[in-house]
Amino acid sequence: MTDRLQYGITAKVLHWLVVALLLVQYLIGWLMPDVHAGPPGAPMTFHISLGIVILTLIVLRFAWRLTHPVAPESSLPPWQRLTSEVVHWTLYLLVLATTVTGWLFASFRGWSISFFYLVPLPMLASKSEANVKALDGWHQAMEWTLLVLIGIHVAAAIAHIFIYRDRIMQRMLPG
Ligand code: HEM
Ligand code: HEM
Repeated sequence: MTDRLQYGITAKVLHWLVVALLLVQYLIGWLMPDVHAGPPGAPMTFHISLGIVILTLIVLRFAWRLTHPVAPESSLPPWQRLTSEVVHWTLYLLVLATTVTGWLFASFRGWSISFFYLVPLPMLASKSEANVKALDGWHQAMEWTLLVLIGIHVAAAIAHIFIYRDRIMQRMLPG
């Protein structure tokens, strides 16, 4: 398969949709009350439901990337091609790890959650206090590592706009 030279509309829409949903997701995560004590309320139901939407979109995006590969910008020096590839693959991996650790954590707590109060959400495992203890902190570790990598990714995008002054940012913009 020959690599395309530019991102298509689907890749761009999926990229910015995930960005917007992640922003909402971090806000809900930090603003929602501590859930260690009681059963999950509405903020947690929305956090988990939105997390499942993000998980679905990231899997779709990854499948789209594999079936519609885009060549790196030809003007990039080899070290930037390599590092951007590594950062992009790791971003996919970390979104996956963040969502799966969250879903596992909720499953081990034995919660029954509905997807946006519409249909019951399948859980990944049965209740287990030992596994809650073993997994404690992993979701936070993944969410913070993801945030650091997003910071690096955004800093690189800004460097391309203001320092390198090339067309890297345009690749992900409409048009
Ligand atoms: C990429 C998507 C996600 C992001 C960015 C995210 C982010 C967060 C944040 C910021 C918190 C607050 C924890 C803290 O104080 O640092 C949190 C807690 C939590 N999230 Fe997520 N989350 C995501 C997906 C999910 C999913 C898919 C689920 C479950 C299906 C989930 C379940 C939970 C649970 C159970 C907690 C409370 C856990 C605890 O406090 O130890 N999250 N999440
Ligand atoms: C304001 C925030 C963001 C900006 C300005 C931005 C900008 C960009 C740009 C310009 C590209 C194209 C790079 C190229 O290949 O030439 C790109 C690709 C990419 N971005 Fe972002 N991004 C942002 C946030 C995010 C976030 C939060 C994620 C987390 C999932 C993300 C994940 C990716 C991935 C995985 C690619 C590679 C696409 C692919 O080839 O499949 N981006 N981004």
